[in-house]
Amino acid sequence: MPEYQRFDAVACEFPRPRAPLFPSLRLADLSFGGSGTVAPALIDGTAVRHFARGRYAMHAAYLAAGIGPGTALLAPSYHCRTMIDPALALGGTVLFYEVDSDLTPRVDSIRALLAPRDHGIKALVLPHYFGFEQPPALLAAVMAVCRHHGLMFIEDCSHAWQVAAKRAQGAQANADHVLMASPYKFFGCEDGGVLWANPALFPITPPARPGLLREAKAFTSAWSRNRAARVDATEAVPRDPALRGQDIVERHDQPSPLYERAMENKNSLALSRWVMRRTLLAPLIERRRQHYRQWLEAVAGARGGQALMHDLPDDCAPYMFPITIAEPDPVFYQLKQAGMPIFRWDDMAVSSCTVARNYRLHLLHLPCHQGLTSQQMAWMTALVAKALA
Ligand SMILES: Cc1ncc(COP(=O)(O)O)c(C=O)c1O
Repeated sequence: MPEYQRFDAVACEFPRPRAPLFPSLRLADLSFGGSGTVAPALIDGTAVRHFARGRYAMHAAYLAAGIGPGTALLAPSYHCRTMIDPALALGGTVLFYEVDSDLTPRVDSIRALLAPRDHGIKALVLPHYFGFEQPPALLAAVMAVCRHHGLMFIEDCSHAWQVAAKRAQGAQANADHVLMASPYKFFGCEDGGVLWANPALFPITPPARPGLLREAKAFTSAWSRNRAARVDATEAVPRDPALRGQDIVERHDQPSPLYERAMENKNSLALSRWVMRRTLLAPLIERRRQHYRQWLEAVAGARGGQALMHDLPDDCAPYMFPITIAEPDPVFYQLKQAGMPIFRWDDMAVSSCTVARNYRLHLLHLPCHQGLTSQQMAWMTALVAKALA
């Protein structure tokens, strides 16, 4: 049974983030009839299936790969729970391959896990972390290993819509290669999980569409999120700086509370797909890149932390700015207490990988999406630069 290490933040009483972690719906980002939007085949093609979140697209992929009791998924040791939840929901187990410090997969570790004759492994999932495409040579090597062992190769583009856009066609031709993405991390939409795969892998009935009530609620929530995004980010939030969380070790084989079995076969909102079809890509990508460069400049030379990905390739649309910090205590607490929006994968299965063990508390994911205002960016970058000076 896997062992998990989970950071419990309840006692910290962290305030709500003072800037949004995800983009929200803005009419200015949409095009009504022009070009520059997503290629229609990527959203409405026969090889595309929509779900409410990426984790449920992964569930469909793991199911198609044959994951169930007595079988296993190969997943990276640096992961969030929702990547492995669907395999556990299917009754399978998860084995973790090691990653290097740049989050590329260690092919030797993958090979070692596949060495026993009765490994029972049916699929391998490989993320393009933070919107950065994995190096082509490594992708080819991992794909070759998967093919040799008869595993389904699942490209996790949850952070990397643009990587999916570039590579999705490859998946449609073969029955052993699929891609998934999480549109709500890229577009200003409320939900979404997309799976690109050979249509022969799908059940005939597509996921059930949400009702009108859910659509209407999503519309209201999209507008209120939009308004919340304009809240003054500089407002002070006094907190008790002495409050601390605790690390909890637990053993179980069940999905996390973030996984809802009732959502497994539900389609995304029509509103989300409408936003995906109409969003202008170039300004969205440029704004993310500008924000990413702003982060790089803000922390250049900082003593207490450094960017994980220093170079921004020309075709990269970053999802978040990953930064490693030397001292999670006190830096993580200071930032969270000030209302900084932060993701940290501090609820993770324990593995032999020293990189994942270290990144669990030392790697922060900071937002750089298109919906952030210049005031929010200025506030966040100044706060982090000061904490790491
Ligand atoms: C790398 C990665 N893959 C998959 C998922 C699951 O995606 P979703 O949140 O759309 O269910 C996440 C969630 O954060 C993720 O970070």
